[in-house]
Amino acid sequence: MTAASPLIRLAGITRTYGAGAAAFQALNGIDLEIDEGEFVAVMGPSGSGKSTVMNILGCLDSPTAGSYTFQGAHVESMTRDQRALLRRHFLGFVFQGFNLLSRTTALENVELPLIYRGEPATSRHAAARAALQQVGLAGWEDHAPNELSGGQQQRVAIARAIVTDPKVLLADEPTGNLDTHNSCEIMELISGLNRDRGITVLMVTHEPDMAAYARRVVRFKDGRVDSDHRQEERA
Ligand SMILES: Nc1ncnc2c1ncn2[C@@H]1O[C@H](COP(=O)(O)OP(=O)(O)O)[C@@H](O)[C@H]1O
Ligand SMILES: [Mg+2]
Repeated sequence: MTAASPLIRLAGITRTYGAGAAAFQALNGIDLEIDEGEFVAVMGPSGSGKSTVMNILGCLDSPTAGSYTFQGAHVESMTRDQRALLRRHFLGFVFQGFNLLSRTTALENVELPLIYRGEPATSRHAAARAALQQVGLAGWEDHAPNELSGGQQQRVAIARAIVTDPKVLLADEPTGNLDTHNSCEIMELISGLNRDRGITVLMVTHEPDMAAYARRVVRFKDGRVDSDHRQEERA
């Protein structure tokens, strides 16, 4: 990797679902470069391919064609195991629906990615406690998701995403299930992770008020990038 190369580069990415007459092209050739430290909001109508591209970036899905490079490494030609390693070591994912394990405490939920990485119990507990503290949930370690508000559940999910110290946080409509007050708190938290820890953030949102926290807005339309502009960070 040279100093000038972006952290993430998508070139000519397509994704076709199904085959033959039923084939549907969800992505029609996405070109996108993201530098380390950026905070990017991804907007666009429902069905425009936002989640599809996030899933490809998060190594949860593979493109039909095109190239995806992460720190100069070609993700599209990696094996499943190599992509899983990339995901576990460099990427954190937050979803609209929180996706927490229901009969499991906040602490155990946050520890999960470290279990996948084979970390010993003592360091796992310590890291998970620190991550919960960072998202403002010190004292809530032993609570299960159904004992937490939606905003608190999303905080647990963010703690789980950052406990591995990722380079990139991918958030697909992280405030989609939250009221305005909780949404703003989650956005303050995500902005802080970008600003203070230098985590690169890509966030899908429908809401202009949430996109205002980002410094760049990429709009999708019909599986393509329709516009891409930089903006002043929200005061
Ligand atoms: N697993 C799938 N099988 C078939 N079509 C899909 C699948 N996932 C998404 N699509 C289609 O691809 C298009 C883009 O979907 P998506 O990326 O979820 O859009 P967005 O997140 O922008 O709302 C939509 O038309 C959707 O119906
Ligand atoms: Mg979506």
